[in-house]
Amino acid sequence: MTSRYAFPTLRAEEAAAMIGNGAMIGFSGFTPAGAAKAVPRALAAKARELHETGAEFQLRVITGASTGVLDEELAQADAIKWRAPYQSSKSLGKLINGGKCQFVDMHLSHVAQFLYEGFLGRMDYAVVEATDVMPDGRVFLSSSVGAAPTFLTHAEKVIVEINRYHSPRVSELADIRTLPPPPNRSPIPIYHPLERIGWPYAVVDPRKIAGIVETNEPDGVGEFSPPNEACVKIARNVVRFLLDELRAGRIPPEFLPLQSGVGNIANAVMQGLGDDPDIPPFHMYTEVLQDALVPLMEQRKLLGASTCSLTLSPPVLEKLYANIDEYVDRLVLRPQELSNNPGVIRRLGVIAMNTALEVDIYGHANSTHVAGTRMMNGIGGSGDFTRNAYLSIFMCPSIARNGAISTIVPFCSHVDHNEHSVQIVVTEQGLADLRGLAPDERARALIDNCAHPAYRPWLHDYIASCGPGHIRHNLARAFELHRNLLEQGAMLPDVAAEIAGGER
Ligand code: COA
Repeated sequence: MTSRYAFPTLRAEEAAAMIGNGAMIGFSGFTPAGAAKAVPRALAAKARELHETGAEFQLRVITGASTGVLDEELAQADAIKWRAPYQSSKSLGKLINGGKCQFVDMHLSHVAQFLYEGFLGRMDYAVVEATDVMPDGRVFLSSSVGAAPTFLTHAEKVIVEINRYHSPRVSELADIRTLPPPPNRSPIPIYHPLERIGWPYAVVDPRKIAGIVETNEPDGVGEFSPPNEACVKIARNVVRFLLDELRAGRIPPEFLPLQSGVGNIANAVMQGLGDDPDIPPFHMYTEVLQDALVPLMEQRKLLGASTCSLTLSPPVLEKLYANIDEYVDRLVLRPQELSNNPGVIRRLGVIAMNTALEVDIYGHANSTHVAGTRMMNGIGGSGDFTRNAYLSIFMCPSIARNGAISTIVPFCSHVDHNEHSVQIVVTEQGLADLRGLAPDERARALIDNCAHPAYRPWLHDYIASCGPGHIRHNLARAFELHRNLLEQGAMLPDVAAEIAGGER
């Protein structure tokens, strides 16, 4: 059937029927925002049917970052054999940690270059959510840009999901430009978070468009629960630190652009910054715009933001669409090779605030692997920002699972961000400013300021048991806490019981 789009209109099942076993697919989506929805669901149904007959059907899947329904449905249908660069789906996590899906955890800024340069092989299909597509191949993306422009260029064939739920005016926020291959790259002319350097649409060779699938479905971004006490204290510590830096002249009076990671802690910190009258109005250069930021934009505390996705719950996104005139000059939606570009992050002097699972006493941070083995989500953009920021802040509660876990450990069981990039660590207990500190000094600051008081004696005892060295470790004991956790269910069962009993 020919549609008003000048391309055939397909049912999602017809689109899924075109895609064969083993195909590599680039799905749009950076968080659930802008993720393809109908075709992945139909692919999951196809996989289930084929699996029932004993036939194989599994895909290689790459996206901008995490997604919503896409990963859940495909994982539940056991339809993903290879996945990159990030995910946060419970069902997919089980496959990854059970060794049933190969997962490649990547810096998000690397995705476009890896594809262009052929590091990941050929892409058979791109399935991209948009609000419109023109006969000449201009594609107006929806609530995220992510790596969709690259997928459109790189894939052999393209299916466009036109999602009526989104305001067609969301493309007015988009600023899309892809980078040429090295060595002929010129400087990226972004000198301010809101500087625009591209176009409001991505482009595709129209001959590659296999068809259009029409949908009408929200992104499915969840709402945040009110911040708990630990999040509020962490937020307070971050705000106090930034105010001290401002007063000391190490942050200029007009402030610096902020990046804020994903999750409840990040949301609480942004609320805390917004509520503090002494923090001046600021800009953001970040990769996700979460719910807490929209009221800050309304209050003009957040002057404007560059982001890669509008990761907003439906009521917040709908309100933004209803008042889009307020945002067109203050929000820029960029591809992830620009929103997370190391050079731009360094040039703008971004203050990066990300969350860790654990931090070791010398300042290495683990954002991804529980006990060094079980993948949580992935590194996401945290490495792009941490390594290149003006100030790199890591936040986490000092304990997890009711005190069974200390997030301050002797040796990280997996390292995503190393001591050379991590500058400030914040827990609800306090803050360790590691800048200019040698390893011994870092250890003292992290134990005394950030570790839970109940874990401090053990951590000091660990140091006392170490031999000499620039970085002092007792390799026989370095993973004692992790070993205890695996064997006894708590890093220090007595301490865990004491914390759970409310004795501290
Ligand atoms: N060991 C084991 N489990 C731990 C842990 C540790 N050291 N620290 C935290 N956890 C568990 C918590 O108990 C919680 O479990 P639950 O879901 O069963 O309740 C879970 O991990 C999440 O912890 P929480 O404190 O709620 O933090 P969060 O929701 O803010 O998520 C990360 C923290 C690290 C998982 C998340 O920020 C992430 O994936 N980061 C990497 C990517 C990134 O930073 N992206 C942003 C760049 S812009």
